[in-house]
Amino acid sequence: MCGITARIGDDESLEDLLVSLKNLEYRGYDSAGIAVQNGTGIEINKCEGEVSELQAELSTADHDGPIGIGHTRWSTHGPPTDANAHPHTGCRGRVVAVHNGIIENYDVLREGLQARGHEFTSDTDTEVIPHLVEERLDAGFDAEAAFRDAIGELDGSYAIAMLIDGDPAVYATRNGSPLVVGVGEDANYLASDVPAFLEFTDRVVYLEDDDVAVITPDDYRITDATGSSVSRPVETVEWDPEDAEKGGYDHYMLKEIHEQPVALRQTIHGRIEGEDVILEDFPPGTFADVSRVQFIACGTSYHAGMYGEWLLSKWGIDANTFIASEYAAFPAPVDEETLVVGVTQSGETADTLEALKNARERGARTLALTNAIGSTAARTCDDALFIRAGPEIGVAATKTFSSQVATLVLLGERLVRDITGDPTDECRERLKALESLPEHVELVLDDSRAATISQRWLGDAGNFFIGRGNAYAVAREGALKFKEITYEHAEGFAAGELKHGPLALVTDETPVFAIGTGEHAKRLESNVREVQTRGAPVIAVAPRTATDLTDTADESLPVPATHPDLVAILANVQLQLIAYHAADELERSIDKPRNLAKSVTVE
Ligand code: F6R
Repeated sequence: MCGITARIGDDESLEDLLVSLKNLEYRGYDSAGIAVQNGTGIEINKCEGEVSELQAELSTADHDGPIGIGHTRWSTHGPPTDANAHPHTGCRGRVVAVHNGIIENYDVLREGLQARGHEFTSDTDTEVIPHLVEERLDAGFDAEAAFRDAIGELDGSYAIAMLIDGDPAVYATRNGSPLVVGVGEDANYLASDVPAFLEFTDRVVYLEDDDVAVITPDDYRITDATGSSVSRPVETVEWDPEDAEKGGYDHYMLKEIHEQPVALRQTIHGRIEGEDVILEDFPPGTFADVSRVQFIACGTSYHAGMYGEWLLSKWGIDANTFIASEYAAFPAPVDEETLVVGVTQSGETADTLEALKNARERGARTLALTNAIGSTAARTCDDALFIRAGPEIGVAATKTFSSQVATLVLLGERLVRDITGDPTDECRERLKALESLPEHVELVLDDSRAATISQRWLGDAGNFFIGRGNAYAVAREGALKFKEITYEHAEGFAAGELKHGPLALVTDETPVFAIGTGEHAKRLESNVREVQTRGAPVIAVAPRTATDLTDTADESLPVPATHPDLVAILANVQLQLIAYHAADELERSIDKPRNLAKSVTVE
């Protein structure tokens, strides 16, 4: 949700800045902009649209310089126009800033500034920042003091990078929005997320809330909220920069769908030994005091949470899933025996962070189940469990869903053993099936007829996805993926719920994808007949062995037979491909669907 970046060196920065901005585009693509110190002042270029449009405008050397900041925007305050594109300046262009987040008191600040003679050129909340800093510089503050004092006025969430004309440094701070320093050989970097600069350096320093960083070409200094120097660890990121590139695929989404076997191998690597689950920071007994589990998440991660809830409930553990954006306002009861698991790929989703904070403040134990090692969720929860899926750039989450569910199977096993003293029934078969999951996903990818089926059955009046048990979670996920990237109507239902209302929508123009795991097959078959009777074509997504379903359906997308608890993960891969090929056919912007961004850092 907005990407900010900076490159601080002695030589030219423009090329690196543009690379970083492109790498950050998954965070927003309404507009793009950069500002560089070019020896004669600060040169700003910005425009509505994607980074490629900005790049096309930047052909002369005037736009280059050793120190620069950049921004890619997901609009909150003000429409996506050139004027609202970041960077923003104060009245005289001496102070230039980019921002990710929302300044909640910007209207009060703006009125005050206007009353004191400041003129604004955009509708954004961000623009108050350079004006506030400028005012303090005029009052004689030094640069760092002016920055620190100005941010003291801000309420809300923010990550900010700022240039001051003639000052060879970038000033940065964060509060609730991510920011990481990249420590390079020839230059230092700053960004909302590591993939921005991963091809230049893998040495990173994650900033904490209220830190102020002053970054120069060969050094960086961090102070905390009180102004005292603090030392934050330099960590080495193990992601391969190539993982964050398209690697010959037309879209990141397709590449990431195909990366699932590798991602799953990484997720389970070293974590299964026969009947035992080995979760690095969670030895046996870790969760002995837990009596209840709550999953908190948004979007795709919420569906992974639903899957986790279903597993735990089946294994006799009290578990529920909550939509994070509802949780802080309408919290469920917790106590010290409640484990609240924030399921979040990015670890930066504002709604999830807020819900986790709420649970922690009321005494619950919190665990971040995330892909991002230095993320806010990982650092602010009591514990973190990493899904190890590697970087995911496509806005639509794919491989991280599979890795989240695989991690939840492992976590579930640890919880059951700690809470009840015994492994789950069938644990050996399930863990063996989990070890085979990467190969099973490979089989789905090698053989899928999703491209053909999506062309044949794209529904004019909606596309429905139905399932029971964990397949209901996947029905919801299949529909989310479909609507997100095709812009066509899609809904996921618990199969038995159709007859309580949604059946009224079913016609011969509404294909129904029925996800079968082999469990309760007769009931799902009845639901399939109910929609067929109303003319709907049915596509079974199920193991070939689920003949009750596949024989009844009009078409099928088979998946390998495996443990019923895991079949739905394979079915989900087919549904990812269905969404992808339908969107491709409709020529949608698959990696950057309209109105969306990958990391949603506003509430
Ligand atoms: C959909 C999608 C979103 C995210 C949601 C939560 O494809 O990617 O629904 O799942 O915004 O994001 P994280 O998992 O980063 O908290």
